[in-house]
Amino acid sequence: MQCKQIVIPEFGAPEVLQTREIDMPTPRKGEVLVRVAFSSINPIDVKTRAGLGWAASENKDNLPWVPGYDISGKIEQCGDNASRFSVGDEVAGFIGFPARGGGYSQYVCVPESELSSIPSTVTLEAAAALPLAGQTAAQAINKAQVKEGERVLILAGAGGVGHIAVQIAIATKAEVYTTCSEANLDYLATLGAHAINYQFAPASERLSDIDVLIDLVGGEVALDALKCLKDHARVITIPTVTAELVCEKATLLGFSASGMLVSPDPKQMETLLYMVGVGLLKTEIQHIFPWHDVISAHKQVETSRTRGKVLLDMQC
Ligand SMILES: NC(=O)c1ccc[n+]([C@@H]2O[C@H](COP(=O)([O-])OP(=O)(O)OC[C@H]3O[C@@H](n4cnc5c(N)ncnc54)[C@H](OP(=O)(O)O)[C@@H]3O)[C@@H](O)[C@H]2O)c1
Repeated sequence: MQCKQIVIPEFGAPEVLQTREIDMPTPRKGEVLVRVAFSSINPIDVKTRAGLGWAASENKDNLPWVPGYDISGKIEQCGDNASRFSVGDEVAGFIGFPARGGGYSQYVCVPESELSSIPSTVTLEAAAALPLAGQTAAQAINKAQVKEGERVLILAGAGGVGHIAVQIAIATKAEVYTTCSEANLDYLATLGAHAINYQFAPASERLSDIDVLIDLVGGEVALDALKCLKDHARVITIPTVTAELVCEKATLLGFSASGMLVSPDPKQMETLLYMVGVGLLKTEIQHIFPWHDVISAHKQVETSRTRGKVLLDMQC
């Protein structure tokens, strides 16, 4: 039996993405075969496809390469010594990060240790939206040690990472401020954040006395946001390309600043799934593209204007 995968055969524009047919993979020791329902798209997939960033450097001699780190689906087969799950169980995971990838597949073999069970109250769509973005959000809030009552500014609160970070910070009982375009003001207000329209004025003209900055934009926008901070504020800057610049400037100004690289953590994924299941966290999915329209999906994520997440339906 055969199944489909989406590959990057060479780096370039979204149009380089291709579909290929492979023989159904067989799980090895400790692995399970997952029938992928949804795979979500992250900005790192788009940058890697364009040949940018460290995941592209890692994989430049390994093309064609199957991108994708976020999957949800059902266990199809268990390999030897894989006993955590049974055939038919619903699972999700942040898989193969950073070098292996593989999520843009209809069927993929994954070490069972990379997966988490999806509670019956969580949809496969919501579960696919969570792995990389949700864990980045949770790890950033943890790293910043956000506390009850603190004033937290999250740049780009409407994005894949941002909409989860806003909700986790609010659950910590912080006072959350976030930046977005006019179109997302109401959405972020419904999540409980004070939403600031960056198209109207930069954050530095609207806010002051911020304890913690979670930067999801980087560059000049992040440098401007440093003007909103109170003495000894903490800064976590997530976009890796400008992390050094932002940390250098923040440190010069007397703030404690660091970059961050997300690290897959199935236990943390279970917590996020639990939060969605009990209604403490809501995932926002802007659009689900069929797998054969992956080029449009990449074009959407490349706009940097996605609200929440973009998914690929791998089974349609
Ligand atoms: N270091 C790591 O481990 C790590 C992990 C995950 C992500 N990242 C990086 O973190 C960044 C965010 O990731 P993501 O997945 O959240 O991206 P995303 O989903 O593509 O973010 C899109 C959002 O950004 C907002 N936005 C764009 N320009 C903005 C601006 N100038 N000010 C405020 N908001 C703006 C948009 O809101 P509007 O439409 O309202 O403008 C949109 O909702 C990316 O650079 C990504 O590569 C790094």
